[in-house]
Amino acid sequence: VASSPRHHAFDPADVARGRRRYAPAKLAHLVLKTTRPETMIRWWSLVLDAQVVFENDHLAFLTYDTEHHRLAIVKVPRLLAPIGVLLRNLRKVHGLDHVAFTWDSLDGLLATWRRLTASGVEPVWCINHGPTTSLYYEDPDGNRVELQYDNFATTEELLAFVDSGAFAENPIGVEFDPALLAEKLDAGVPLAQLVQRGSATPPGQMPVAGYGAVRWRTL
Ligand SMILES: [Fe+2]
Repeated sequence: VASSPRHHAFDPADVARGRRRYAPAKLAHLVLKTTRPETMIRWWSLVLDAQVVFENDHLAFLTYDTEHHRLAIVKVPRLLAPIGVLLRNLRKVHGLDHVAFTWDSLDGLLATWRRLTASGVEPVWCINHGPTTSLYYEDPDGNRVELQYDNFATTEELLAFVDSGAFAENPIGVEFDPALLAEKLDAGVPLAQLVQRGSATPPGQMPVAGYGAVRWRTL
């Protein structure tokens, strides 16, 4: 596949290969610094259904599985809070944009959406990228996290989607209404339909799609 320095084609051979020889075994954890640790620990515990496994005056370790920590919260002195306020939107232009977590079923992802909504935690962006159905949230400090479901069970299905040209045509995706998607899931609409882009556009609304879906709020 021909590629220029600026455009790298999605090569099936790259995707199908699996882990490279000297690559790490897994992505282990993330660490966030904050001047309001209680609020942050509460938020992340809720969102990831995680528990605090260690905490002292300086840090807290949270995990949601057998890893000793998936998230660490480093407690920064409160008098430094203005720096955080000043840099809150830094991620929109520089550095780490977001981290993503995958649920193993659409059911599980939407159950999390329901659970968070019931606790007053609302997504800032709901978009079916094509490869994933994604809900983006922002923590109290403005760090962004993507909760996703992989729309394709196999690499072959993903590659068929890429080969169709749909991804090159719209690499961003189509926004969806999570309430409508959850409603359709409950009504028994087949998964293969639900994961299609545009499957949960509110009736009578134009789908928000492609680069048009990227705005200051969703950026
Ligand atoms: Fe992402």
